[in-house]
Amino acid sequence: MTTALPRTIPSLPTRWYVDEAHHQREIEAIWRREWLCIGREADWAAPGDYRLVPIAGQELLVLRGEDGELRAFHNTCRHRGSVLCTQSAGHFAGGRIVCPYHAWTYSLDGQLARTPRRIPCADFDASNYPLYGVALDTWAGFVFINFEPAPAMTLREAFGSEFDLVASWPLATLRTAHSETHTVACNWKLFWENFMECAHCPGVHPELSRAVPLYGKGLLRLDDEPNYQPAPGDLLEASCGEGVETWSTSGKLCLPPLSGIDPAAIATGMRFATFFPSAFVVGHRDYVRSVRLHPLGVDKIEVTIEWYVDPAVPASEVDVKTLTEFGRLVVLQDARACELAQRGQRSTRHEAGVLMPQEYDVALFHRWVQERLA
Ligand code: FES
Ligand SMILES: [Fe+2]
Repeated sequence: MTTALPRTIPSLPTRWYVDEAHHQREIEAIWRREWLCIGREADWAAPGDYRLVPIAGQELLVLRGEDGELRAFHNTCRHRGSVLCTQSAGHFAGGRIVCPYHAWTYSLDGQLARTPRRIPCADFDASNYPLYGVALDTWAGFVFINFEPAPAMTLREAFGSEFDLVASWPLATLRTAHSETHTVACNWKLFWENFMECAHCPGVHPELSRAVPLYGKGLLRLDDEPNYQPAPGDLLEASCGEGVETWSTSGKLCLPPLSGIDPAAIATGMRFATFFPSAFVVGHRDYVRSVRLHPLGVDKIEVTIEWYVDPAVPASEVDVKTLTEFGRLVVLQDARACELAQRGQRSTRHEAGVLMPQEYDVALFHRWVQERLA
């Protein structure tokens, strides 16, 4: 008797990676509807601190109010639409946002407080002209926004099961040791497709393939092996190999181990949590890393990588080079592969790719995209 071979899975149309009009559909149906990670609460340290956050073709003014609350607004004045802020980050002294055009002035909770040089009008009520607010919520020190006036799901409903995966890390208290941003010439979906499979790992990531032996076989999980026979004690999740304690060039811990981490995660040396479409977080024994992305166009994304450490370790004792070099290497290897994939999409002959059976997670991601575009 012969066993039926698995079948290939259709991929998305190539046009979805190169066509500006389609990209705009994805911005509206996905990026302006889902919860998007924009940074860490500590990025707005004091009341009055603000940052401009360009995301999904919009520019947000995200600030910490005088009451300590983080809030997000469109960076647009309600009078005649001027931007309110032009510096990428700063501080509102005096708890006021003053438009640079005609000096309409808003309080940090977004209410219109003053309209200088305005001739009084019978039908004008300042309370009808607050800044355009954007939903904002936080989880474990991470800040998320949602452009929908009434998001279909709460942040917890959207990502609760992923939050649970890394719940044992002391995420809320960790300190950002390093942050860096890269521009990658690929469609945002290619980034995630690459993230969702390891068939590329042996060729693209020689160092990571040595650190995580299953990746070296091109597999994400032990039971992805076509002839896998369950055996007692098998660890199905990919895990760091013998003598590899964390993601670092030497394989040794960069910092003292974080306390309280789930023993199963200690055994694997890593645990991923994914927040489509804008971020993932990976917990290691001694530090946590996040990767955030957002599209700058149909064929360009901005990727921000950050490393978080125990605040009890003095900054002078954190060797940032040792902490960051392995994670950066892997992300930039992925970025290069994604850029090559993007270039090939321009072929007029290539109407769609094809997924192999082990790329099942890519297929799930495609379904996630298709459902939102439907
Ligand atoms: S556009 Fe802002 S005050 Fe006129
Ligand atoms: Fe990769």
